[in-house]
Amino acid sequence: TERTYIMIKPDGVQRSLVGKIIARFEERGYKLIALKLVQATEEHLEKHYADLKGKAFFPGLIKYMASGPVVGMVWEGLDAVKTGRVMLGATNPLASSVGSIRGDFCLAVGRNICHGSDSVENAEKEIKLWFPEGTVQYTSALESWVFE
Ligand code: GTP
Ligand code: MG
Repeated sequence: TERTYIMIKPDGVQRSLVGKIIARFEERGYKLIALKLVQATEEHLEKHYADLKGKAFFPGLIKYMASGPVVGMVWEGLDAVKTGRVMLGATNPLASSVGSIRGDFCLAVGRNICHGSDSVENAEKEIKLWFPEGTVQYTSALESWVFE
Protein backbone atom coordinates (compact mmCIF):
# COMPACT_ATOMS: atom_id res chain seq x y z
CA THR A 1 0.00 0.00 0.00
CA GLU A 2 1.11 3.53 -0.84
CA ARG A 3 0.38 7.13 0.17
CA THR A 4 0.02 10.21 -2.01
CA TYR A 5 -0.43 13.93 -1.39
CA ILE A 6 -3.46 15.34 -3.21
CA MET A 7 -4.28 19.04 -2.98
CA ILE A 8 -7.34 20.97 -4.15
CA LYS A 9 -5.99 24.27 -5.47
CA PRO A 10 -7.60 27.68 -4.74
CA ASP A 11 -9.76 27.54 -7.89
CA GLY A 12 -11.11 24.12 -6.88
CA VAL A 13 -12.08 25.50 -3.47
CA GLN A 14 -13.60 28.70 -4.94
CA ARG A 15 -15.56 26.68 -7.50
CA SER A 16 -17.06 24.49 -4.74
CA LEU A 17 -15.48 21.30 -6.10
CA VAL A 18 -14.06 20.12 -2.75
CA GLY A 19 -16.81 17.58 -2.09
CA LYS A 20 -16.78 16.17 -5.63
CA ILE A 21 -12.99 15.72 -5.66
CA ILE A 22 -12.96 14.06 -2.24
CA ALA A 23 -15.84 11.80 -3.31
CA ARG A 24 -13.84 10.47 -6.28
CA PHE A 25 -11.03 9.26 -4.03
CA GLU A 26 -13.48 7.86 -1.46
CA GLU A 27 -15.52 6.06 -4.10
CA ARG A 28 -12.44 4.59 -5.77
CA GLY A 29 -11.58 2.93 -2.45
CA TYR A 30 -8.74 5.11 -1.18
CA LYS A 31 -8.49 5.82 2.55
CA LEU A 32 -8.26 9.42 3.81
CA ILE A 33 -5.49 9.62 6.42
CA ALA A 34 -4.97 13.43 6.63
CA LEU A 35 -6.98 16.51 5.65
CA LYS A 36 -6.70 20.28 6.16
CA LEU A 37 -7.89 23.59 4.71
CA VAL A 38 -5.03 26.09 4.71
CA GLN A 39 -4.05 29.48 3.36
CA ALA A 40 -0.51 28.63 2.30
CA THR A 41 2.27 31.23 2.29
CA GLU A 42 4.32 31.93 -0.83
CA GLU A 43 7.40 30.64 1.03
CA HIS A 44 5.68 27.32 1.73
CA LEU A 45 4.45 27.01 -1.87
CA GLU A 46 7.93 27.75 -3.22
CA LYS A 47 9.16 24.74 -1.24
CA HIS A 48 6.32 22.59 -2.56
CA TYR A 49 7.06 23.55 -6.19
CA ALA A 50 10.86 23.89 -5.73
CA ASP A 51 11.51 21.67 -8.78
CA LEU A 52 9.80 24.25 -11.03
CA LYS A 53 11.81 27.26 -9.86
CA GLY A 54 13.24 28.90 -12.99
CA LYS A 55 10.22 28.13 -15.20
CA ALA A 56 8.63 31.21 -16.79
CA PHE A 57 5.27 30.36 -15.20
CA PHE A 58 6.72 29.87 -11.68
CA PRO A 59 5.89 33.36 -10.24
CA GLY A 60 2.34 33.12 -11.62
CA LEU A 61 1.98 29.60 -10.24
CA ILE A 62 2.97 30.75 -6.74
CA LYS A 63 0.58 33.73 -6.89
CA TYR A 64 -2.25 31.44 -8.06
CA MET A 65 -1.58 28.88 -5.34
CA ALA A 66 -1.46 31.61 -2.65
CA SER A 67 -4.61 33.35 -3.94
CA GLY A 68 -6.91 31.48 -1.55
CA PRO A 69 -7.13 28.45 0.71
CA VAL A 70 -6.18 24.98 -0.52
CA VAL A 71 -7.31 21.59 0.75
CA GLY A 72 -4.39 19.28 1.50
CA MET A 73 -5.06 15.56 1.78
CA VAL A 74 -3.21 12.29 2.12
CA TRP A 75 -4.84 9.27 0.50
CA GLU A 76 -3.65 5.73 1.06
CA GLY A 77 -4.21 2.58 -0.98
CA LEU A 78 -3.05 0.40 -3.86
CA ASP A 79 -0.81 2.29 -6.32
CA ALA A 80 -2.01 5.62 -4.84
CA VAL A 81 0.64 7.82 -6.51
CA LYS A 82 0.29 6.66 -10.11
CA THR A 83 -3.44 5.99 -9.99
CA GLY A 84 -3.98 9.31 -8.19
CA ARG A 85 -2.33 11.09 -11.14
CA VAL A 86 -4.52 9.17 -13.59
CA MET A 87 -7.58 10.27 -11.61
CA LEU A 88 -6.42 13.92 -11.81
CA GLY A 89 -5.70 13.78 -15.55
CA ALA A 90 -2.95 15.41 -17.64
CA THR A 91 -1.32 18.66 -16.46
CA ASN A 92 -3.01 20.53 -19.34
CA PRO A 93 -6.76 19.96 -18.89
CA LEU A 94 -7.29 20.13 -22.66
CA ALA A 95 -5.24 16.93 -22.86
CA SER A 96 -6.94 15.28 -19.87
CA SER A 97 -9.23 12.33 -20.49
CA VAL A 98 -12.93 12.85 -19.92
CA GLY A 99 -13.66 11.04 -16.68
CA SER A 100 -10.58 12.48 -14.97
CA ILE A 101 -10.98 15.36 -12.51
CA ARG A 102 -9.25 17.92 -14.75
CA GLY A 103 -10.89 16.44 -17.86
CA ASP A 104 -14.31 16.93 -16.32
CA PHE A 105 -13.99 20.22 -14.42
CA CYS A 106 -11.44 22.62 -15.97
CA LEU A 107 -9.83 24.01 -19.12
CA ALA A 108 -6.65 26.03 -18.42
CA VAL A 109 -3.25 24.67 -17.36
CA GLY A 110 -2.84 27.61 -14.98
CA ARG A 111 -6.22 26.84 -13.35
CA ASN A 112 -6.17 23.06 -13.19
CA ILE A 113 -7.86 22.76 -9.75
CA CYS A 114 -5.82 19.93 -8.20
CA HIS A 115 -2.34 18.63 -7.47
CA GLY A 116 -1.05 15.09 -7.08
CA SER A 117 2.42 13.80 -6.16
CA ASP A 118 4.37 12.53 -9.18
CA SER A 119 6.50 9.84 -7.46
CA VAL A 120 6.53 7.87 -4.23
CA GLU A 121 9.64 9.79 -3.14
CA ASN A 122 8.02 13.18 -3.79
CA ALA A 123 4.82 12.01 -2.09
CA GLU A 124 6.73 11.34 1.12
CA LYS A 125 8.46 14.76 0.87
CA GLU A 126 5.16 16.56 0.26
CA ILE A 127 3.39 14.72 3.09
CA LYS A 128 6.16 15.85 5.47
CA LEU A 129 5.98 19.42 4.16
CA TRP A 130 2.18 19.76 4.47
CA PHE A 131 1.61 17.47 7.46
CA PRO A 132 4.65 17.79 9.77
CA GLU A 133 2.30 16.64 12.55
CA GLY A 134 1.86 13.32 10.71
CA THR A 135 -1.15 11.43 9.41
CA VAL A 136 -3.89 9.47 11.21
CA GLN A 137 -3.94 5.69 11.65
CA TYR A 138 -7.23 3.82 11.71
CA THR A 139 -8.86 0.74 10.24
CA SER A 140 -11.34 1.47 7.46
CA ALA A 141 -14.50 -0.63 7.62
CA LEU A 142 -14.28 -1.03 3.83
CA GLU A 143 -10.77 -2.47 3.74
CA SER A 144 -11.69 -6.15 3.37
CA TRP A 145 -14.25 -5.25 0.67
CA VAL A 146 -11.88 -3.10 -1.38
CA PHE A 147 -8.80 -5.37 -1.11
CA GLU A 148 -8.58 -9.17 -1.40
P1 GTP B 1 0.81 19.43 -10.07
O1 GTP B 1 0.03 18.22 -9.68
O2 GTP B 1 0.15 20.74 -9.72
O3 GTP B 1 2.24 19.34 -9.60
O4 GTP B 1 0.82 19.40 -11.68
P2 GTP B 1 1.64 18.44 -12.63
O5 GTP B 1 2.55 17.54 -11.85
O6 GTP B 1 0.66 17.79 -13.55
O7 GTP B 1 2.51 19.47 -13.48
P3 GTP B 1 3.88 20.20 -13.03
O8 GTP B 1 4.35 19.70 -11.71
O9 GTP B 1 4.80 20.12 -14.19
O10 GTP B 1 3.40 21.72 -12.90
C1 GTP B 1 2.83 22.19 -11.70
C2 GTP B 1 1.71 23.15 -12.03
O11 GTP B 1 2.23 24.30 -12.67
C3 GTP B 1 0.66 22.61 -13.00
O12 GTP B 1 -0.33 21.83 -12.39
C4 GTP B 1 0.09 23.90 -13.55
O13 GTP B 1 -0.86 24.47 -12.64
C5 GTP B 1 1.29 24.79 -13.59
N1 GTP B 1 1.89 24.75 -14.93
C6 GTP B 1 2.64 23.76 -15.48
N2 GTP B 1 3.00 24.07 -16.73
C7 GTP B 1 2.47 25.30 -16.98
C8 GTP B 1 2.48 26.17 -18.09
O14 GTP B 1 3.05 25.88 -19.14
N3 GTP B 1 1.80 27.36 -17.94
C9 GTP B 1 1.15 27.70 -16.81
N4 GTP B 1 0.53 28.87 -16.73
N5 GTP B 1 1.12 26.90 -15.74
C10 GTP B 1 1.76 25.72 -15.83
MG1 MG C 1 3.82 18.25 -10.38
